[in-house]
Amino acid sequence: METITICFLLYFISHCSCTRLQEATINTFNVMNYGAIGDGRKDDSQSFLKAWSKVCSTKNTIATLKVPPGKTFMLSPLQFSGPCYFSSVHFQLEGKIVAPNNKEAWKGKDEDFQTWIQFSNVNGLIINGGGQIDGGGYVWWNSCKGESCGRPTALHIHKCNNFQLHDTHHLNSAKNHISINSSNNTHIFNVTITAPQDSPNTDGIDISQSSHILIQHSTIATGDDCIAINTHTSNINITGVTCGPGHGISIGSLGEKGSYGIVEQVHVSHCSFKGAKNGMRIKTWQGGFGYVRNILFEHILLTNTGNPIIIDQDYEGVNEEEKKQESAIHISGVTYRDVQGTSISEIAINLNCGEGAGCNNIFMDAINIISASSGSKVRASCNNAHGIAASTSPHISCLS
Ligand SMILES: *[C@@H]1O[C@H](CO)[C@@H](O)[C@H](O)[C@H]1NC(C)=O
Ligand SMILES: *[C@@H]1O[C@H](CO)[C@@H](O)[C@H](O)[C@H]1NC(C)=O
Ligand SMILES: *[C@@H]1O[C@H](CO)[C@@H](O)[C@H](O)[C@H]1NC(C)=O
Ligand SMILES: *[C@@H]1O[C@H](CO)[C@@H](O)[C@H](O)[C@H]1NC(C)=O
Repeated sequence: METITICFLLYFISHCSCTRLQEATINTFNVMNYGAIGDGRKDDSQSFLKAWSKVCSTKNTIATLKVPPGKTFMLSPLQFSGPCYFSSVHFQLEGKIVAPNNKEAWKGKDEDFQTWIQFSNVNGLIINGGGQIDGGGYVWWNSCKGESCGRPTALHIHKCNNFQLHDTHHLNSAKNHISINSSNNTHIFNVTITAPQDSPNTDGIDISQSSHILIQHSTIATGDDCIAINTHTSNINITGVTCGPGHGISIGSLGEKGSYGIVEQVHVSHCSFKGAKNGMRIKTWQGGFGYVRNILFEHILLTNTGNPIIIDQDYEGVNEEEKKQESAIHISGVTYRDVQGTSISEIAINLNCGEGAGCNNIFMDAINIISASSGSKVRASCNNAHGIAASTSPHISCLS
């Protein structure tokens, strides 16, 4: 009533501000108004889906699904689907979302590709608000260690171009915390992602089949890759990210079981690795097809990091003849510039390339990596890598 009265008055003053006032009140859909309880135990999925259908069907203007602060909402596995009417929708996460504390909730779902919260076919999705998404991974980690026993990805973004995620905290996923698939023009910033160091496959952010991805100013400390860049990705920009514990920023694995892998135009800058098992890793399998090219890592700080720089074409177990013949993902145009700090591995730089494809146009400049334990030395190891090293310590014998 009040809104209408104010609106009526304002109508005479300014038609324009009246319209704005109406928008502000009508276009926010609070899950509490759709039956959500927010006690962390009752399943609030249906309320979220009802609010979502309102948000997604709003025409002519952006609508907001509001998850209010100070409450915890338990959601069963669910999917927020588009396409929505308007070119952008807002998921304002101020409160907490938690996963079911039992695996039964996933019974009957596709075992090969399990997700908890999925957004698909939503253009211009914005998720922010200072809230958190807790994957409740504890119920999975001990009882389901293998990759294939159906642990779900916490937040899966599929076919959502122009996606934005910021000001959120993600924790304790059963598997990957955030995966971005088939979603161009993604911007992620100011997120924190945390899970125990020994939790299995709990990658921070996985990217596949997407281009023009910018990840900035975030902190990721989990049990597996900080950021994994998988196949069919290009124009990836990662800057101001702190990684560790975890397995570092990883390109690949690519080419597994003879598959086709392409990653190009990756720029990682102003990132730091602290207590990570790997720093900057490129990993491919023998027998695959495709390429990794135009990759730049620069202004990197290392603290007690294992394998700070590693390229691994994994040709162990392949015999001499196979080494020459087998196809491989071609790696070329990889630059490391201004990399400083301490390594916990004796081999601080490991360029382990196959005889067939090798690694070409590798460029290093202003690299200074020392051992994390005083008095110990680090060294570089090198197979079939070609390129130039300027001002690099440890010295790399195979680069000129
Ligand atoms: C980052 O997000 C948090 C909430 O997760 C917020 O409190 C903080 O103000 C944000 N920082 C910036 C610089 O926006
Ligand atoms: C990723 O997107 C592609 C193309 O839309 C699709 O074929 C593939 O199944 C998706 N993968 C996952 C894990 O959703
Ligand atoms: C993303 O961009 C690539 C080219 O950069 C294009 O081939 C692909 O179809 C686009 N994907 C989507 C989901 O728009
Ligand atoms: C990556 O982002 C930073 C910060 O926004 C910007 O300075 C840089 O030019 C970008 N690099 C690429 C390759 O887009």
